Amino acid sequence: MRKKIVAGNWKMNKTLQEGVALATELKNTLAAEKPNCEVIIGTPFIHLATVSELLKDSVIAVSAENCANKESGAYTGEVSAAMVKSTGAEYVILGHSERREYYNETPEILKEKVDLALANGLKVIFCIGETEQERDNNQQEAVCKAELQGSVFHLTAEQWKNIVIAYEPIWAIGTGKTATAEQAEEIHAYIRKCVAEVYGAQAADDTTILYGGSCKASNAPELFGKPDIDGGLIGGASLKAPDFKGIIDAWK
Ligand code: PGA
Repeated sequence: MRKKIVAGNWKMNKTLQEGVALATELKNTLAAEKPNCEVIIGTPFIHLATVSELLKDSVIAVSAENCANKESGAYTGEVSAAMVKSTGAEYVILGHSERREYYNETPEILKEKVDLALANGLKVIFCIGETEQERDNNQQEAVCKAELQGSVFHLTAEQWKNIVIAYEPIWAIGTGKTATAEQAEEIHAYIRKCVAEVYGAQAADDTTILYGGSCKASNAPELFGKPDIDGGLIGGASLKAPDFKGIIDAWK
């Protein structure tokens, strides 16, 4: 049975103190009322060690939002997968459209990052998704398949067990425009079919595929109600504990 997951992606928000306050509030909320899914928070690098320690005995796992495509050495300003792992974080988000677009992360660079993350014992939340223009041209399937082929379909079946896919239509990220549950389900089912072609039906059935893009408490129940949508990757609505909890509650 595949895991149901609600993962937050704080992006470049929250000072260390604000992040600790948010993580503490979430920890207390979820200690009082156990979630029916796995809960992950993705934080900036500087929060990882403190927040991982804070959440050590909680139900919440911690994720980085990026890692370097080099193992170690003279790469000023970069943070390696080994460093992320050493903080206690379990996951890393890779391939987010903001990293692809603003930091020129190519499929080849992402492949290197995925390999290093897995080699260092991290699980990967790998993001894919089409632009608005690509959706208008009905290219969403081709785009998603190419992104999978470019950076993760070289993995072994054993490595694949540590991959979570996040489908995030770029036109829905931070725009308030959500894909309809039907649109999302259609492409999630297609993504699962692509996974089955490479890793077999069982592995595809066991793969968690998250939806991301203006997901909030009001639309999460309908999205998560679809058979191939296994949870969400949440940006804006992960920055306030009650909003994030509202999405977690969609699994109740
Ligand atoms: P959003 O971001 O929920 O603010 O649309 C989602 C994401 O980019 O992961």
